[in-house]
Amino acid sequence: RKKVIIDTDPGIDDAMAIFVALRSPELEVLGLTTTFGNVNTALATRNALHLLEAVGRTDIPVAEGSHVTIKKAAKLRIASFVHGSDGLGNQDFPAPTTKPIDQTAAVFLVEQANLYPGQVTVVALGPLTNLALAIELDPTFPKKIGQIIILGGAYSVNGNVNPAAEANIFGDPDAADIVFTCGADILAVGLNVTHQVVLTDADREKLEQCDSKYARYLCKIMGVYFDYHKDAYFIKGVYLHDPTTVIAAINPSLMTYTEGVVRVQTVGITKGLTVFDNTKKRYGEITPWTGMPTVKVAVTVDAPAVVELMMQS
Ligand code: BDR
Ligand code: CA
Repeated sequence: RKKVIIDTDPGIDDAMAIFVALRSPELEVLGLTTTFGNVNTALATRNALHLLEAVGRTDIPVAEGSHVTIKKAAKLRIASFVHGSDGLGNQDFPAPTTKPIDQTAAVFLVEQANLYPGQVTVVALGPLTNLALAIELDPTFPKKIGQIIILGGAYSVNGNVNPAAEANIFGDPDAADIVFTCGADILAVGLNVTHQVVLTDADREKLEQCDSKYARYLCKIMGVYFDYHKDAYFIKGVYLHDPTTVIAAINPSLMTYTEGVVRVQTVGITKGLTVFDNTKKRYGEITPWTGMPTVKVAVTVDAPAVVELMMQS
């Protein structure tokens, strides 16, 4: 089984993604690491613990991540209008009884990469601060980690925070640029792909009929996420950003990929923009792309198969 660590800001689609991973016979979840994004980091940790408790998987460790961006900005973009003020659909769940482990997310990531060199896949579902911190902590981390699969960016399409930026990259663009250029085996799944993968109102009704603790939990929290999509995108359904990214770890053949350098704009009105360059060879002057490591970027997706896998899970 593929060993995965999920770096997450739960988050309704994060909850879906975590459940897909827990249900997958192809994956072994080594741990969850938490980040700010949909909620602040303290709440992300609380939600991660709550999700694991709800489905009886408290054997999986949770390591709390950074509360601030890599450049120590404490003013964060928190998407409570998408996921509810508690991040889990305004359910006011009781506080979890379990606790995060003593290690920080970055230390846990480095430790697991050392323990299983070349074998750990990190599925990153929030801003990339913890991964950038792991790289800072151990510059050989990119060589020791097996793969990093990132829900982040918008490739040749508009962002979802603004026309330029997708939310996870916008959350910490400096961290994202460090990660995209670190030389690890990276696969990026962006909005150009995830906006094709919709869990419809009809799928939701099917889930409501389903006798499963996973489905029941998701149905309880999903309402605000559906409302937001109706309002913001005029669609009858929700985008499966984070589950699609876990599914890329389970079955990479459900997508096709291209390869090139990705850099992230860190300032100005295009802050958070992911710039993709697949030029084979660069001549002439030195540019911010010259000699940079390449990453894989998802370009097409078998959306019905991804939705089906999510529903089956
Ligand atoms: C990403 O941002 C968050 O709102 C979602 O959980 C997902 O990871 C989509 O842009
Ligand atoms: Ca997320």
